[in-house]
Amino acid sequence: MSLIEKAAEKLTHSAPVPTGTGVPAPAVSFEAQSATAPENAWQAKVDLARLRGLNIITPNGDYSATAEEFRMVKRPLLNNAFGAEGQKFKNANLIMVTSCFPGEGKSFCTLNLAMSFAMEMDRTVLLVDADVSKPTMLNVLGIEAEKGLLDLLEDKDLNPADVLIKTSVPNLTLLPAGRRNANATELLASETMARLLDDLAHRYPDRVILFDSPPLLVTTESSVLSTHMGQIVMVIEAGKTPQPAIKAALGMLSSCAYVGLLLNKTQTHLGFDKYGYGYGYGYGRS
Ligand SMILES: Nc1ncnc2c1ncn2[C@@H]1O[C@H](COP(=O)(O)OP(=O)(O)OP(=O)(O)O)[C@@H](O)[C@H]1O
Ligand SMILES: [Mg+2]
Repeated sequence: MSLIEKAAEKLTHSAPVPTGTGVPAPAVSFEAQSATAPENAWQAKVDLARLRGLNIITPNGDYSATAEEFRMVKRPLLNNAFGAEGQKFKNANLIMVTSCFPGEGKSFCTLNLAMSFAMEMDRTVLLVDADVSKPTMLNVLGIEAEKGLLDLLEDKDLNPADVLIKTSVPNLTLLPAGRRNANATELLASETMARLLDDLAHRYPDRVILFDSPPLLVTTESSVLSTHMGQIVMVIEAGKTPQPAIKAALGMLSSCAYVGLLLNKTQTHLGFDKYGYGYGYGYGRS
């Protein structure tokens, strides 16, 4: 029985969980994560004020340049995954965000993309913190949890339902990185991980599964993960990421059918000069 099937089975045998704050995350099943989950299903409250302070898009937020820019970034990704012609690539709904080096904006872009996807009318998003050695998602979202992806991969008795967190942001579910593990790289490269990703991609073909990940040129995890992804968004820091590094990183992603380049921290917005950050988006291989 696959991990997901175990989760589904568990749901049918578990009692409904009442609304409440400060209650530890209960066994939340994949089914309970859906857009149609009842209003009173347990949800972890996201700290929206904190997100706004970090220039992260929030649902029903006012117009912002960031929201507008990420709208443009997400369109081709959605089109590849769910466009009229169907999935253009294998597992096109599995999307990983990565970059060459630390600090170029992977987590920032992942979270903004996740929020932007979640605001689509008919999409649900599973945000996976796969930067297991330097996880940030729980902290930035203001959510507390212990277990996550690594625990799921190591502990055969755990189900996805035990570690998934439905958030107070409609349509957004989080899979945190989990507890530190000396064998993290091996776990991410394991058959169990491959099966989990395949299950996720196929069981929820209408769901975006978005992965934050470690820097490509500093660790081995991202290149291993990339082999399972349908699409990759590679963040490049404007004026900083050296061109040879970008070429080397693209070479490591050769197994992935679609690699998008996201130019982060530019000084222009929609072609006009501006102060602050902006984004350019294009696709490239070398
Ligand atoms: N476009 C942007 N606008 C505003 N702040 C940004 C932008 N991009 C990144 N930052 C900020 O820069 C810092 C580094 O970004 P982030 O943590 O996303 O990088 P990272 O690539 O995930 O780093 P690491 O490899 O260490 O995980 C953070 O404080 C983030 O909020
Ligand atoms: Mg990060």
